[in-house]
Amino acid sequence: MTDLVQNYLDRILSEHAEITEGTLADYIPELARVNPDGFGLALSSSDGYVYRSGDADVEFTLQSVSKPFTYALALELIGAAAVDERLGVEPTGEAFNEISVDSVTKAPKNPMINAGAITAVSLIPAAGPDDRFALIREFYSACVGRQLDIDDAVYRSERAAGSRNRAIAYMLDSFGVLDGDPDEVLDVYYRQCSLKVTSTDLARMGATLARTGINPATGRRVIDAAVVRRTLSVMLTCGMYDMAGDWVTAVGMPAKSGVGGGIVAVLPGQLGIGVYSPRLGPKGNSVRGVRVCRSLSAQLGLHFLNVTEESRSTLRAVYDLPDRRAGIRVYEVHGDLLFAGAERVVRTATAQREHFSAAILDVSRADDINDAARALLAGLSATLQTVGKRGFLVDPDGIVVAKDSPLREAVYDSCEDAVAAAESWLADTAD
Ligand code: DON
Repeated sequence: MTDLVQNYLDRILSEHAEITEGTLADYIPELARVNPDGFGLALSSSDGYVYRSGDADVEFTLQSVSKPFTYALALELIGAAAVDERLGVEPTGEAFNEISVDSVTKAPKNPMINAGAITAVSLIPAAGPDDRFALIREFYSACVGRQLDIDDAVYRSERAAGSRNRAIAYMLDSFGVLDGDPDEVLDVYYRQCSLKVTSTDLARMGATLARTGINPATGRRVIDAAVVRRTLSVMLTCGMYDMAGDWVTAVGMPAKSGVGGGIVAVLPGQLGIGVYSPRLGPKGNSVRGVRVCRSLSAQLGLHFLNVTEESRSTLRAVYDLPDRRAGIRVYEVHGDLLFAGAERVVRTATAQREHFSAAILDVSRADDINDAARALLAGLSATLQTVGKRGFLVDPDGIVVAKDSPLREAVYDSCEDAVAAAESWLADTAD
């Protein structure tokens, strides 16, 4: 199986290697010194298995791929409300280095353009620039699963060529948006952009986001799940700048590009992709990187709106017990329970209430559940009681009704126990 995927990645890489359009970023002179033909592709499954193809272990600088991670760190450290006061979440449709802010709030419109990314750096709470950078580097390294180092030549080159970013930082400072001295904040921004990664590292960072903030390689939770959801939302709408609409339509994965030639793409719950090819198109995105992601998405069905019919597959089986147990209907549920699946279970059982006296809801094969589904399923028994029926829940792991809850009196560890309780209730009501 691993050979099949490996061969597929090797093939898709060689098909796209023929593309030589685009140019190296030269506004940072050091970036123009890389091998233009470098091409690496890596894919990490959500359990941490990484496939690598081509130059997947060649290092390049993170550049703007860093932006969603610093945004996530700011959200994690000071909370969404404090971040929102300084930084919006609206796509701009503008170039990454546009000198722009919201006309009313004067805050940058999103954290993916330079103005927003520089603001995000300033929001990382620390005693000084070195501490701030240490937090950022440690966080990125935790997402990758190895310690990242700076490319000193790129850092110095960017610092020397940074007029545009200085203009942006001083503009933000004049609006009172920046938390800190603009030159110090910029210095940290240049350092984060100059951290060296490989496409394998990007795939691992993507997989950490795909796994709601748990690095699958180390097993460590490095970001809160709600922070990841918000970060991925902003990556989806703003991560590819003024080609965000085209990207979402054709590729359909939250992503972020950088002028170093990297792209990270994330399919939530499933995988992280890292690509490296330094020739850029007019919007600052890797030409081959974009094309290879388009092909991967189309050929492997990776668009995030390719959804399975979760609600249909939730109900694994519905059956009546025979003979003396007549009147007992069992609803077996499996998979992950979200609102739509739980709604279907509750609606089906309620609509069929004339056909049973007691319903057994067996969630022992369900994997995961969210709060909305939990509330719906926990309420089923009470709903049935209002029409003279009874509900019995099989929930050995306490996913619907917690094990220490006082509401567990009609909750059973096995279907046999629930059937016995339903039988005895039926016998009592018959008397
Ligand atoms: O701010 C800059 O110019 C760079 N350090 C990062 C820009 C970048 O990567 C834009 N992305 N495509």
